[in-house]
Amino acid sequence: MEIIIVASPAEVGRVAAAKVATVVAQNPSAVIGLATGSSPQGIYVDLRRRVQAGEITFAHARGFALDEYVGIPLEHPESYASVIARDVVAPLGFEPTRVSVPDGRAVDLESAAKDYDAAIRAAGGIDVQILGIGANGHIGFNEPTSSFASRTRIKTLAPLTRQDNARFFDSIEQVPMHCMTQGLGTILEARQVVLVAHGSAKAQAVAAAIEGPLSSFVPGSALQLHEHATVVLDEEAAADLQLADYYRYTYANKPAWQVEH
Ligand code: GLP
Repeated sequence: MEIIIVASPAEVGRVAAAKVATVVAQNPSAVIGLATGSSPQGIYVDLRRRVQAGEITFAHARGFALDEYVGIPLEHPESYASVIARDVVAPLGFEPTRVSVPDGRAVDLESAAKDYDAAIRAAGGIDVQILGIGANGHIGFNEPTSSFASRTRIKTLAPLTRQDNARFFDSIEQVPMHCMTQGLGTILEARQVVLVAHGSAKAQAVAAAIEGPLSSFVPGSALQLHEHATVVLDEEAAADLQLADYYRYTYANKPAWQVEH
């Protein structure tokens, strides 16, 4: 796992965006795994800058969102379908029909979840998956004790997650109780994963995911099993890491040919 510690949330976004941009520059029809939440916003801001500068285009790329709420209408401003359309598809210039979001409104949710995994496979698999991490260590909406082998499926949101996400709704009661999320097994199949975190609220979860034991109790620790995982952090999110100096040393001495710009 590559751990990169930088000075600010904006720099987290820029460094992580460089990874995604490299993939898209090499393969304009790349398949991108898209995360919602506040953590990846800086990535999308920097990718937009690159699109505007003519460095890359998402016009031929394919996108798959990580997760979706179950129990709110598609047109709700906080449905992840709305968030992805607003924060990712429009600003980056994706072709809307080439971006999929799990169908949290399906009559048969179990089939819809299976179909989602099948659609990812049919698209050739995800080339680069963008991820944030929850304060309880979740990735996507894979709450603690999610199986490392799990596929896209329905989950019940942990009380802490509902509390954390209440800021996007008028009250905690309006935060859905259920969601559909790519599984940890689904996420681990992406060819590359880039996880971003900033702020002290994430420090414990980040340390447990990177340096703690492999445990479904900390879903983010599943990334230790991935052969091409990068974690980009600001100083606050990196505060509980025991080997922070080693990660800084490694990054500072990274061979020039391995550095994305
Ligand atoms: C959300 C999302 C996750 C996200 C995490 C952290 O509920 N389902 O994909 O990574 O929780 O959110 P934030 O980045 O807003 O802190």
